[in-house]
Amino acid sequence: MLASAIVNQRLLEHLNTGVLLLNADLIVIYMNPAAEALLEMSGQRGLGVPFWELAEESEEARQALEQSVVSGHSYTKRETSILLHNQHQITLDYSVSPVAHPETKLPTLLIELQGRDRLMRISREEQLIAKQETTRNLVRGLAHEIKNPLGGIRGAAQLLERELPSEGLKEYTEIIIEEADRLRDLVDRLLGPRQIPQTEDVNIHEILERVCQLISVESNNAITINRDYDPSIPELQADKGQMIQALLNICRNAMQALLEAQPAIATPTLSLKTRTVRQFTIGHKRHRLVAQIEICDNGPGIPSELQENLFYPMVSGRAEGTGLGLSISQSIINQINGIIEFESHAGKTIFSIYLPLEAL
Ligand SMILES: Nc1ncnc2c1ncn2[C@@H]1O[C@H](COP(=O)(O)OP(=O)(O)OP(=O)(O)O)[C@@H](O)[C@H]1O
Ligand SMILES: [Mg+2]
Repeated sequence: MLASAIVNQRLLEHLNTGVLLLNADLIVIYMNPAAEALLEMSGQRGLGVPFWELAEESEEARQALEQSVVSGHSYTKRETSILLHNQHQITLDYSVSPVAHPETKLPTLLIELQGRDRLMRISREEQLIAKQETTRNLVRGLAHEIKNPLGGIRGAAQLLERELPSEGLKEYTEIIIEEADRLRDLVDRLLGPRQIPQTEDVNIHEILERVCQLISVESNNAITINRDYDPSIPELQADKGQMIQALLNICRNAMQALLEAQPAIATPTLSLKTRTVRQFTIGHKRHRLVAQIEICDNGPGIPSELQENLFYPMVSGRAEGTGLGLSISQSIINQINGIIEFESHAGKTIFSIYLPLEAL
């Protein structure tokens, strides 16, 4: 008997579903670790607290719980928006079953919680990855089509230049050649990193420090850089130069947003944070361990009209921007099976990069 109680306890502790037990007054008398994680309530602090203080929904929802204790009927709610004690809004599915307390035999409510945010995020990510792949193929195809005739135009202009009867006319062939070169450079950037990545063991903090150094120089030390590194992150397999490029593009955007903000920001700050995350799904693949890099700035935020298509090439909010920085960062990160996401509003923009640490 005792052995089975321990087994049950262990099982409850390892479930991914949040499990709570409420007494007839809807006060929490038990919660498993998954419920603590979902309701963002650490340790035993939730015990003895009325359920709606941990997870506020609506007056009707509260009445439905009370009704369930009286009537003994179970029910399930899907995709309900819940306000947590820390004011975070989350989306949950939950089932309510009236049961008798195993020891006291008093009526209680068993609540099972399933977080929907993670599921929604996965489907969003899948869409994002598919969309990005389509764009990349489209851009690659187009870039190749532009490059071929461009070589011909440039070559013909050079030949023509030699045949021109007067020096004065050379001005025109020079324009053709220069503009062809400009277009070629643009197309090369559109095609993304051309070299095959030279993967090696890289220390993510070394890369971030290099990026910080470049940002400090470019901004004339006008930006405060905060670091919050997790030193336990193992080295990852990547191309060092490309990783610097990918992270620099993101940090440089933050720097530009911070320095160009109107009205000026009192303390323009860039914050870099690294962590490891266990059991993380990217696209269809679940990874045992991933490195998470967060790049956060306190600038004006990404204009809302850009947010939907931010990673597409040529999407830019700056007069002198080419709109290629983020699309290049993204192709580098995707190449090593990672993903970039962002969240942005006035005063806070966070880019989160997740990189699988497969070898472990
Ligand atoms: N941290 C940020 N804060 C505010 N806006 C941002 C931030 N990061 C990106 N943006 C917006 O996203 C746009 C696209 O960025 P992206 O790096 O792809 O292109 P760009 O910076 O315009 O040009 P390029 O990087 O090619 O010189 C930027 O023009 C800017 O409007
Ligand atoms: Mg940029």
